Amino acid sequence: MPTQKIVAPPAKAAMFLVLTVNEGAEAQVADVLTGVSDLTKAVSFRVPTSNLLCVVGIGHDAWGRLFDAPLPRDLHPFREFHGEVHSAPATPGDILIHLRAGTQDVCFELAKQLMSRLRPYTRVQDEVHGFKFFEERDLLGFVDGTANPEDEDAQSAAVVGDQDPSYRGGSYVLVQKYLHQMDEWEALSTGEQERVIGRSKLEDIEMSDEQKPANSHVALNDLDDVDGHAREIMRDNMPFGEVGSAEFGTYFIGYAADPAVTETMLENMFIGNPPGTYDRILDFSTAVTGGLFFAPPRSFLDDPTTVPAQDTSSGADAPDDDAVSASPAPAAPADGSLGIGSLKRP
Ligand code: HEM
Repeated sequence: MPTQKIVAPPAKAAMFLVLTVNEGAEAQVADVLTGVSDLTKAVSFRVPTSNLLCVVGIGHDAWGRLFDAPLPRDLHPFREFHGEVHSAPATPGDILIHLRAGTQDVCFELAKQLMSRLRPYTRVQDEVHGFKFFEERDLLGFVDGTANPEDEDAQSAAVVGDQDPSYRGGSYVLVQKYLHQMDEWEALSTGEQERVIGRSKLEDIEMSDEQKPANSHVALNDLDDVDGHAREIMRDNMPFGEVGSAEFGTYFIGYAADPAVTETMLENMFIGNPPGTYDRILDFSTAVTGGLFFAPPRSFLDDPTTVPAQDTSSGADAPDDDAVSASPAPAAPADGSLGIGSLKRP
């Protein structure tokens, strides 16, 4: 099922839409969201080979406006990081729509369908159309995504499990739009660029620990916990740009079961580890947006009443643990009333 599927092979085309919800339009927006999976299915069914995927994420400040359901355990506003030299700013955003596919046409069609329903009730804060660039490379010329976890490792890194039974199958999505200073980057020798990233450019091989500078991107983002287990996220970054205005960028998107993992990476990049040893990639890349969202499991997106307002769930009565399949809505109360649901109505 193409809606709220988190772990997937790298996309060939993507769209990223960040919206804010107009004051007073919460019920209408919540209603449109319950129809996202049907719309996604309608668009993707016509072109089954397109592998169209749609993920909708909700920001902290919008969650309580849209739903009566409890806040997902680790959802909070985007944490800004201000290092001595570079900053990761927070920018407005209530809803993130991440569309991925093998071709841009289906992303565009679904975005058009979604926006025709959401446009009267929302404001588009940011819209980025991403494309694949030669061998999974970013516009800095390096292969991006190689060290992503795979299979079960990807699932446990990116998808919420027993730590929050009501929202099992969801994911915390952190996005940042980066603009590259291409002239300065291209003035570096290939060897210098490789020391910024921590991998070779042509063959995409990681440098040894002895070779890899402490302020390289890979050194600062390769995290282990105290027991030596990898702390990972699932990335699906996309290049974007406009040649006319010389805009060259990377849209960073990281899915995590625990947003603290992505935030530790940001802290290492911007503040440095140790502080002061910040990521050299930032000398050539400026973060211009920042948002944290929770992508609920599809069962919740389709019907937010699956998570009661007063969350008394234990592992036993929690909704399904599979982001890919919907769970049926609970039976209506015998008195014929709507019962206590979590879709906010005026
Ligand atoms: C300007 C934006 C960025 C660019 C161009 C970029 C590019 C890259 C490249 C080329 C690699 C090496 C290949 C790979 O394993 O994917 C990499 C690795 C990685 N990046 Fe980024 N990245 C960016 C931002 C970020 C941000 C904001 C984060 C986290 C918050 C991040 C997290 C990671 C991680 C976890 C790895 C793998 C490290 C390892 O080898 O274990 N990246 N990135």
